[in-house]
Amino acid sequence: MSNVGDREVIVKDVHKYFGKKHVLKGISFHLPDEENLAIIGPNGSGKTTLLRTLASIYLPDKGSIQIGRYDLVTQTREARSLLSYVSPNLSFHKKLTLRETLDYFSSLQGVSWHDQDDLMDKVDLSKMLDSPIEGFSEGQKAMTRFVIALMKKPKILVLDEITATLDVKKKESVIQYIYDLDKKRGLTILLIDHDPSVVDRLCEKLLLMTRDGKVMDYGDTHEIIKQIPYAFDIKVVPNPSIDVNKFVQELGFPYRTMGQLVQLYAETKDEVDEITSELLRRKWKGKEGQEILEFNVSALSMEDIYWHYLLLLNIPIEDRTKGESVGKFS
Ligand SMILES: Nc1ncnc2c1ncn2[C@@H]1O[C@H](COP(=O)(O)OP(=O)(O)OP(=O)(O)O)[C@@H](O)[C@H]1O
Ligand SMILES: [Mg+2]
Repeated sequence: MSNVGDREVIVKDVHKYFGKKHVLKGISFHLPDEENLAIIGPNGSGKTTLLRTLASIYLPDKGSIQIGRYDLVTQTREARSLLSYVSPNLSFHKKLTLRETLDYFSSLQGVSWHDQDDLMDKVDLSKMLDSPIEGFSEGQKAMTRFVIALMKKPKILVLDEITATLDVKKKESVIQYIYDLDKKRGLTILLIDHDPSVVDRLCEKLLLMTRDGKVMDYGDTHEIIKQIPYAFDIKVVPNPSIDVNKFVQELGFPYRTMGQLVQLYAETKDEVDEITSELLRRKWKGKEGQEILEFNVSALSMEDIYWHYLLLLNIPIEDRTKGESVGKFS
């Protein structure tokens, strides 16, 4: 095992039960040194359970987990020394200020928190140092948990939806920070995040879980994406006076609607040509008036590709599905 990297994670046939409930059903994957993994799957599929098992909060009931050179079950302390888990459940003493909280967690680990000053500035925590945690927003608490996890300079970072409570600007700062840190230190990151752009930016590998705790797919983000048949999307702005549902049914191509906006999906250039000529015909309908105001063809974005995958997995993503409908996905 001496040639196993410090940042390698090898999971073999891991099972986890809660009482009689069989939550993880034979999870296996090998995450190479310094690669990052995103875990995607429906609510309740066992993503958090998997991360908590990797972080040795739970022990697997069957199977093995190797963190770097160490076996997680028999060398738990050594394995833990390599890894930090940012748990959304880490709670604080409400009356303590941020400074006292950081002092407390850093003394527990025998490290200093001042190496995180740069991160604290970026996420606007520096100015909160003397405020009690009880007044913190969920996003500020999430950032505090992140700062605490980074104190010991882990080689492997495990993140459970850390961006979920952040606003767009903070999210961007945090993702950029993780990205830079990863480039600088060569981390291995395992994360759950429902935002495709986070996954896309940070992760070379994807693990897709089935609803019942098995691996549906594991591989290079790029390779998995290739399984999405669509290569192009055509965004269409129909005339507000038309019936969008009727319009997409008539066109007969896979679509997604967002209010009055329509996105059509095409597999090939020929299909793009077919769609665009039909759209042009409807744009210049003469006396009856334009059915569509404008349209725009582009290569399918990563966001869309993930969106398709999440859709195939039936993951409810509240703000993405509001007012949307989808048709003709196989
Ligand atoms: N400590 C526990 N005791 C009993 N059952 C649990 C425990 N933790 C999780 N479960 C159950 O295990 C299953 C998987 O839960 P888990 O939190 O891992 O899912 P998840 O994929 O992270 O879901 P989400 O997307 O909602 O975060 C669920 O049915 C959950 O109720
Ligand atoms: Mg979860």
